[in-house]
Amino acid sequence: MEKYVIHGGKVLNGSVTVSGAKNAAVAIIPAVVLCDEPCIIENVPMIRDIEILIKILSEMGAEIEFLDKNTVKLDCTKIHTTSCSYEYTSKMRASYYILGAMLSKYGQADIALPGGCNLGNRPMDLHIKGFEKLGATVEIKGGKIIARAEALKGNNVFLDTVSVGATINIMLAAVKAEGLTVIENAAKEPHIVDVANFLNSMGANVKGAGTDVIRIKGVEKLKATHYSVIPDQIEAGTYMVMAAATGGDVTVKNVIPKHMEPITAKLREMNVGVEINGDAIRIFKKGPLNKANVKTMPYPGFPTDMQPLIVTLLSLANGVSTVIENVWDSRFKYTEELKKMGAKISINGNVAIVEGVEALYGSPVLATDLRAGAAMLVAGLVAEGKTEIMDIYHIDRGYEKVVDKIEALGGTIRRISI
Ligand code: EPZ
Repeated sequence: MEKYVIHGGKVLNGSVTVSGAKNAAVAIIPAVVLCDEPCIIENVPMIRDIEILIKILSEMGAEIEFLDKNTVKLDCTKIHTTSCSYEYTSKMRASYYILGAMLSKYGQADIALPGGCNLGNRPMDLHIKGFEKLGATVEIKGGKIIARAEALKGNNVFLDTVSVGATINIMLAAVKAEGLTVIENAAKEPHIVDVANFLNSMGANVKGAGTDVIRIKGVEKLKATHYSVIPDQIEAGTYMVMAAATGGDVTVKNVIPKHMEPITAKLREMNVGVEINGDAIRIFKKGPLNKANVKTMPYPGFPTDMQPLIVTLLSLANGVSTVIENVWDSRFKYTEELKKMGAKISINGNVAIVEGVEALYGSPVLATDLRAGAAMLVAGLVAEGKTEIMDIYHIDRGYEKVVDKIEALGGTIRRISI
C-alpha cells in the first residue's frame, strides 16, 4: 500500500499540461473492438483505469502495442472470446463499454457487474433498456451482465435520465445495427462528442452528438483510424482549483476553453483571476475568495466530478455557500475528511452548506473516491502542516503523473510505501 504525504502552504506557480480525457479514453479504447482493422489512439492518459482496460482486451486476444508513452496501437481483430475476466471488469465502471461494443460486433457479451467509485446507487437500467430496444436480450446472473442478439436493429431510445454511460453504450451498440437508432435526452458531455468523432473517423455514421438527440445509422464495416483523445476537462479543473486554493499563478495548458466554461464562470464568480489564451487558461489570485452557490448538472452545467473540488475551494472563501449535488445520491462522504482538516460543512441530503474558514490544517485523511481524492490533494496543498492521504489507488484511477505535475508547480508531495 502507498500514501501521499503533502507538506502544505506552498503557493503553486508555473504551468501544467493536461493529459487526455479519462472518460473519453475509457470509451474509445473498448470502441476499437468494433473496428475491422488496427487503430492508433494518441493522447491516452496512462492511468489505472486504462491499464485495466488494456489488460481486459489483451486477455480477450487483442494485440496492443505502445508506440510511445501515450500512443497505443490496438488490433482487436483477433479477439477470441466475448466473455471478460471478472477480476478486472469488476474493478472499474467503464468496463461496461465492452458490453456495448462486443454486442454490436459479435452479437453477444458477458461482463462482471462494473465497479468504480461508490457514489451511491449506480444502476445500468438505461444501458439495458437501450440494448433491449435494439433487439438484444439482457440478463443479470451470477454477478454478470449477459447480453445476446441475433441481429441488432435500429430503434428510438428515450433516456429517462441524462446518462453519460448509457448514451455512449447505446451509441456503441447502434453503430453496426441495421437502420437508424435515435437516442433522445442524450448526454452532451465533451467526451460524448469525442467518442462520436472517433466512431465517425472509423466510418460510422453518428450525427448530433453534443445535442440531446443523437442519430446513428448502422454501417457494416469500420476501418482503421489514427485518433487523438481530447484533453481532460476535470483534470484541468483540478489544477485550476489547486492554483486558486493556494493563491498561485498557474497556466493550465492543453485545454479546450469551451469545455471549461461552467468551471471558469464559477471561479470568476468567486473572484479568482481567469485569463484564456488559445488552448491555455491562466489562473491567478485577484483577492480574497468569495462565497458562491453551485448546483451540479449534466453538461453544460457544473460537472458533478468537480463538486468535491469546488467544495474544498469554497471552504476557504468568505461567507456561507450552498452546493447542491443533483447527479449522484451519495457524493458528500469526503466532507467528513475535509472536516478533519478544519472545514465547516454540514450536509442535508443532497445539499452541502459550506462555511468558509481562515485555514485548513494538515491531517491523515482518506481518498474516499477518485475526485474526493483530488479534493484531498487540494486541501493538503493549502493546509498548514502535513497531510497524509490514504487509499490513493482511487487517485491513480484518473490522474496521470500527479506527483510530477504538482512538484513542477512548486508543491511538496511524496508517494511512499506503508
Ligand atoms: C460518468 O459516469 C462518469 N464516468 C462519472 O465520472 C461522472 O460522474 C458521471 O458520468 C456524470 O457526469 C465515466 O465516464 C466512466 P451517468 P456514469 O450514467 O456514466 C443515473 C469520475 O469521477 N443512471 O451519467 O456511470 C445515475 O444513477 C466519474 O470520473 C440511471 O438512473 O454516470 C446518475 O444519477 C465518477 N440509470 C445519473 O444517471 C442508468 O442506467 C448520471 O449517471 C445509468 C445512470
